[in-house]
Amino acid sequence: MIIAPSLLAADFGNFAKDTARASKSCAEWLHLDIMDGHFVPNISFGPQVVKALRPLTKLVFDVHLMCSKPKILLEPFAKAGADMITIHVELGDAVMPLIWEIKKLGKKVGLCVNPPTDISLVKPYLNRIDHLLVMTVNPGFGGQEFIYETLPKIQQVNAWRSERNLKYTIGVDGGVNFRTVSECARAGADVFVSGSALFAAHSLKQAVSKMRKIVLQNDPALADLKV
Ligand code: DX5
Ligand code: ZN
Repeated sequence: MIIAPSLLAADFGNFAKDTARASKSCAEWLHLDIMDGHFVPNISFGPQVVKALRPLTKLVFDVHLMCSKPKILLEPFAKAGADMITIHVELGDAVMPLIWEIKKLGKKVGLCVNPPTDISLVKPYLNRIDHLLVMTVNPGFGGQEFIYETLPKIQQVNAWRSERNLKYTIGVDGGVNFRTVSECARAGADVFVSGSALFAAHSLKQAVSKMRKIVLQNDPALADLKV
């Protein structure tokens, strides 16, 4: 399993400090939400910020592009230090060429699906991706409530993965906290993106360790532990 704290919930005045916190937390990835003010109604940060953070940590940089025109951004984020670049299946015909472009840049490929989007849309790409990210809130903002109706999507992509013996990881993103994480794990997720639940904790390290315990011991009661 992989825990990916989302920098969207960090202190925007002190990304360096919070990146260092995440780095020392025993999380595996750092989730970097890129919003263009068009694909989603919010703007976050760009490749310059990612480049500035790259030397501060060895965490895998998981760049989630919530952008209408990701083509022009792939190379800048690749050069800035992304290890994986995730694009949205809602981009339709643009998806296949984007997947090839990301591969050409030598980066891992992620594909993301929004809550209202039919999960069957990801099917043609499953043998070409490294990571399938299921949005469990409507993208754009941190701190939203988990949408339980997305759980069958996780089950479905998990079933497709075993049926076809594929290797992509399954991530969940949005509203993932110490309570919702158990259901995500039971549905088949193995990558847990979490922003506000982790960064709100006094100790990010203990919060990451608590989330890991809840998943590994399959014990939702651990959610009540103080961190
Ligand atoms: C939402 C972003 C998420 C966000 C999750 O659009 O894609 O990565 O940071 O934040 P929480 O965990 O606070 O819902
Ligand atoms: Zn995200």
